[in-house]
Amino acid sequence: MCGIVGAIRAHANVVDFLTDGLKRLEYRGYDSSGIAVYSESEQKIKRVRRVGRVALMEEAVKQKGLTGHIGIGHTRWATHGGVTEPNAHPHISGGLISVVHNGIIENFEAERTRLEALGYEFESQTDTEVIAHSVRHEYENNGKDLYRAVQTACSRFHGAFAIAVICHDDPAHMVVARMGCPLLVAFGDEEVFIASDVSAVIAFTRKVTYLEDGDIALLSANGIDMLLDKNGDKTERAVKTSELSLASLELGGYSHFMQKEIYEQPKAVADTAEIFLDGGFVPENFGEHAPEIFSKIKSIKILACGTSYYSALTGKYWLESIARIRTDVEIASEYRYRDVIADPDELIITTSQSGETLDTMEALKYAQAQGHECSLSICNVLESALPRASTLAIYTRAGAEIGVASTKAFTTQLVILFGLAVTLGKLRGHVSDDELTGYADDLRQLPGSIQHALNLEPQLAVWAKEFATKPSALYLGRGIHYPIALEGALKLKELTYIHAEAYPAGELKHGPLALVDENMPVVVIAPNDKLLDKVKANMQEVGARGGELFVLSDLDSDFAETDGVHVIRTPRHIGVLSPIVHTIAVQLLSYHVALVRGTDVDKPRNLAKSVTVE
Ligand code: AGP
Repeated sequence: MCGIVGAIRAHANVVDFLTDGLKRLEYRGYDSSGIAVYSESEQKIKRVRRVGRVALMEEAVKQKGLTGHIGIGHTRWATHGGVTEPNAHPHISGGLISVVHNGIIENFEAERTRLEALGYEFESQTDTEVIAHSVRHEYENNGKDLYRAVQTACSRFHGAFAIAVICHDDPAHMVVARMGCPLLVAFGDEEVFIASDVSAVIAFTRKVTYLEDGDIALLSANGIDMLLDKNGDKTERAVKTSELSLASLELGGYSHFMQKEIYEQPKAVADTAEIFLDGGFVPENFGEHAPEIFSKIKSIKILACGTSYYSALTGKYWLESIARIRTDVEIASEYRYRDVIADPDELIITTSQSGETLDTMEALKYAQAQGHECSLSICNVLESALPRASTLAIYTRAGAEIGVASTKAFTTQLVILFGLAVTLGKLRGHVSDDELTGYADDLRQLPGSIQHALNLEPQLAVWAKEFATKPSALYLGRGIHYPIALEGALKLKELTYIHAEAYPAGELKHGPLALVDENMPVVVIAPNDKLLDKVKANMQEVGARGGELFVLSDLDSDFAETDGVHVIRTPRHIGVLSPIVHTIAVQLLSYHVALVRGTDVDKPRNLAKSVTVE
């Protein structure tokens, strides 16, 4: 969703950074962009905004010859008001104050009414414009102090936001504030940068400070001149060195980030498995206080959205069968509005690639407010909001995931959930030493099995041609493979805009069987496990109604290719980690259907990478 950048550079033009930074934030999803800089030659704040890709805005910036030593930029994902140029950021009030903003000002209507009554005229339908006018009002009426003006304005706003503000009167300073949305400050040599995401700055510097909720900072080219925390007390935040690699943000020979990220899975999974293979299946992997917390918990509740919710659903099977611990999984956006019954002995887990999904964050806060004392975040993005708000945290080692459709974040989340199940199983006396050795071997072999699954790509590309012509598809699985069917259907929807649904195969006859005819391809995830015979019976039900079956199975499950039954087999039986390997096939299938249909693989329509609004 929306991205923020900003910079003050004593000896260089900020425009290069602003446009480069915004391009690096494109993956988050947006529909318009813009930058504002203070032009010394014209002594005014100049702005360029465009609907559509950053490249269009960049072109306009070049044509207008925008330059300056201070500036802010934004990619907007429309929430309040349509996708129009007047609604794009930055917003300017009276040529004096310019603002970029992520998040939502929940009380913007009341603020707008107040400001209109004071004589301010609004040019957009956004909540952000109230920030610009509000800061200007405070600035002009309370001693022309930009820092204090931002501080007072922010105290009026409800909601989650991160903002950056520049002022015509003081082109050497910028004020930034964070409340609920990520914001970092990065430091170069006589230059300072700000961004909502570290990927925007690492081409310029790796020295970063993550602001905390409630922080308001005054910046100059020398760095942070003043930083007050949520209580108004002077504070300092640690400067860290980002280890994110620049290569991970570039295509490096692949056609799409999604393709690259699918192919990175053997390494991402191996790197994540190393946590347990090198460190052992020990609670300490999950944080300093994990030993005491893990020994007292009696049940688990996992809260998540989208693909991360499906990884949680898969994890439930391992947690219940290996660790014998009762596990519930709930969609975060539902949980947060339910009358929950809190249990201090229940561990709340959140799974999230970005660590900043608003629904998941709010669900965690709600659980904590209801009396849940222990929480664990399984997250991919370092220092993001969810791990920071949780008692325990463990990071997947997937590296940057740029494609909007989640791939390697999902499979690495599964590795962590499996590692957690084995860790808890061992701790609770349900995993013998032999079983422990077996689980470690399974993890060791997993990257190789994923590599084998990647080799199935040509066969899946053949299937894709047929899927691409169909209006919808059905995905079936049973047991632990049912969530993989859900993930397969979600990937198909996101990437190809083909309607797809997933069902536990046994549920077919209770309704969805009515949909089956020769136009409905039915994907069946059918590895050789204890439910295989049941799945085969469900497949007969499809075959008898003229449905075409596309079976993903493993080597020893003796499926025969016949008319109306297509089979692709992974080259070996994979055992307990089979869901992870079958995921690769459903990812590749959707990727190839998208290629045939010519959709935007990395940026599917209407979707954003980090969903930081409700
Ligand atoms: C997955 O392909 C999605 N784009 C989406 O469902 C995503 O998984 C969801 O929005 C949750 O995001 P998170 O993992 O960053 O919390």
